[in-house]
Amino acid sequence: MIGIFDSGISGLLLLEKLESLLPGCPFIYYGDSAYAPYGAKPPEVISERSRAGCNFLINRGAEIIVLACHTTSAVIGQTMHRHLSVPVIEMIQPVVKEAIAASDGKRFGVIGTKTTIESGAYQTALKGLDDSCVVHAKACPLLVPLIEEGWRNKRETKMILRRYLRPLKLMQVDTLLPACNHYQLIYSLIRPRIGKKVHLIDPLATLAAEISSLAFPQNFAVSESVGRQRHRCFVTSRTEYLEKSANYYFNQPLKLTQV
Ligand code: DGL
Repeated sequence: MIGIFDSGISGLLLLEKLESLLPGCPFIYYGDSAYAPYGAKPPEVISERSRAGCNFLINRGAEIIVLACHTTSAVIGQTMHRHLSVPVIEMIQPVVKEAIAASDGKRFGVIGTKTTIESGAYQTALKGLDDSCVVHAKACPLLVPLIEEGWRNKRETKMILRRYLRPLKLMQVDTLLPACNHYQLIYSLIRPRIGKKVHLIDPLATLAAEISSLAFPQNFAVSESVGRQRHRCFVTSRTEYLEKSANYYFNQPLKLTQV
């Protein structure tokens, strides 16, 4: 069984992709909704909460953990394997490899939560793979709340996005890494504002492809805690609003269990 960890419910976007790529594979999902968003939380809190969430998944039968959260991956992705008894897949390495392969001029823009950008994880990973990379990173703390509020198509959101992307445009980045799951929901707004020539990386598609290329799903057992269900989803706080958003992110009705 594959365990998916996220700060909240935007990791359901990955679950949806994986379910279509890996038919027959069981999944268990954990969203730390009581502490979400992680984006401006201190690294110590994110590390502790993420470790606890991943161990929850392992205790219920997860045989591998996917950190489907850029903020968690940025803070603890490289060292999480030391704390867990099963293999871990984080987001940054696959996404950075994809970005370097896509880029013509190695001029990268990275946007993400405050904690992701301040961690320097994407910047370090890009330069670690190719030290000729020029990286401009911009924290966009207003985007997650706007997206969660359903303000995706509001004028205010477009204005704020334009303002966040402007310095990256001025720096003439040729590849943009939207390093936050929520941004997938506003790709159609990002594209015209960053320019049509800029390569726009899709981290969730990259991560889903990476996981499915490992070709291990047939080895995963359907655990008793999941039973006949295709997936089981746990959250640390369940409200009507969260359920509605989860159905939207997952594109179909979904049962969330509070732990
Ligand atoms: N899941 C987080 C990420 O992908 C976004 C939401 C949050 O701040 O918790 O970075």
